[in-house]
Amino acid sequence: MADYDLVIRNAKVVTEDRQLDGDIAVKDGQVVALEPAIAGKGRREIDAGGKFVLPGGVDSHCHIEQKSGFGIMCADDFYTGTVSAAFGGTTTVIPFAAQHRGMSLRQVVKDYHEAATPKAVIDYAFHLIVTDPSPQVLGQELPALIKDGYTSFKIYMTYDAMKVSDYQMLDILALARRDGALVMVHAESHDMINWLAHHLVDQGHVAPKFHAIAHARIAEAEATNRAISLARLVDAPLLLVHMSEIEAIETLRQAQEKGLKIFGETCPQYIALTADDMDKPGVEGAMWCCSPPPRDSEAQEAVWAALKDGTFQTFSSDHAPYQFNAGGKIPKGDKTTFKEMANGVPGLEVRMPLLFSEGVQKGRITLQQFVALTATNHARLYGLYPRKGTIAVGSDADFAIWDADKEVTLDWKMLHDNVGYTPYAGRQIKGWPITVVSRGRVVVEGGKLNAQRGSGQFLPCASPDSSKPLGQTSPELQAMSRFGAKPLF
Ligand code: URP
Ligand code: ZN
Ligand code: ZN
Repeated sequence: MADYDLVIRNAKVVTEDRQLDGDIAVKDGQVVALEPAIAGKGRREIDAGGKFVLPGGVDSHCHIEQKSGFGIMCADDFYTGTVSAAFGGTTTVIPFAAQHRGMSLRQVVKDYHEAATPKAVIDYAFHLIVTDPSPQVLGQELPALIKDGYTSFKIYMTYDAMKVSDYQMLDILALARRDGALVMVHAESHDMINWLAHHLVDQGHVAPKFHAIAHARIAEAEATNRAISLARLVDAPLLLVHMSEIEAIETLRQAQEKGLKIFGETCPQYIALTADDMDKPGVEGAMWCCSPPPRDSEAQEAVWAALKDGTFQTFSSDHAPYQFNAGGKIPKGDKTTFKEMANGVPGLEVRMPLLFSEGVQKGRITLQQFVALTATNHARLYGLYPRKGTIAVGSDADFAIWDADKEVTLDWKMLHDNVGYTPYAGRQIKGWPITVVSRGRVVVEGGKLNAQRGSGQFLPCASPDSSKPLGQTSPELQAMSRFGAKPLF
């Protein structure tokens, strides 16, 4: 009779703060022992051969089976998206349940569950996207949804169909502060982008490369500063997503140096691509187009510095998959202007290997930082820790055996998404997760998937520590309460 369901032997187990050479025992989907040598036997035993065993990745920014603001459906559904994630060493995804204006948030959440439940092969939580903070949403739906485990929401400062005003941002931040949720912000100045885009298009500059000009660096820097200021007014924590730009990163760093709870995320496209990638014949450059756009090598260095010094807490894919056709990236075929292209690049599967190869192997970050940036910090920030994001007794048995010597030349055909291309084709990668375990199930092994559709579980998120205010509102709000004003939250 076996003592355990699964034992991984001879592993170099790395978490965000330690390395243990030994064995991991798993029972009923959880880690039950982590020791130099486990005496009991497993029903299944895997010899890791001295390889690294790292926590399964948590990808806390990905768009799956979601309609964009233009109404274009992502190329990946919850099956292809989660399969692709698993092959890249990720065992938990937090995609978005996206409200479009006029929709009930409650109904949106129901619809996303209906899409995910029969298809997901790994575990998932949901962030909400709030585009219509109506009295019904602010007064009833959001507070109730936070209680039900949807404790983070993204808001947009740009995109005609998605953006909220500064006033609405304050409403949302104040609510999040009161009810224990974390607000994620897409920070780009809508009017700067629109003004530049209008003049570019007016003069016939419509190719994909002009996307990087319209989405100016200062547009990200200004909106970052504004978002932080709004958060300060009401003493609400905030997470800035997909950061790409030197001045915005410096603004984030300064806010953190002041002791503010402002968090930052970056993504593979900002270490591995530049605006030059969009400079291709015709509309081909659309395949590299995302918002904010990849910048230049100087910005890449600033992103690396912020990954290394802890200014960024998370490295997420921002997987926003669209095929290169009229149903996806280029709705008007070769007549599509940069304003009409679907924004976003795929990255669920390559997120961890790219950071491992470019970061750990090249000595830019440590293995511990890699674990924190790809798994632990995501789980902590969004209320899933310690169930997810680490390897510890009592945690879900989510981990991957990495072959640090495996060399791979990226090519879409080796990936498992439904996109039809990868913006990283031809890149040399060293290091890949070869065996992936999700809640004790060996879901990827020998290049094959072994997971049933619908076997992933929904994870309600706790109200995270990251969402707790500092307890110091702005002097003006303090003055208001001294004057006897009704509390605003
Ligand atoms: O270009 C991007 N990033 N598209 C996806 C939507 C978003 O803003 O994250
Ligand atoms: Zn965004
Ligand atoms: Zn996104």
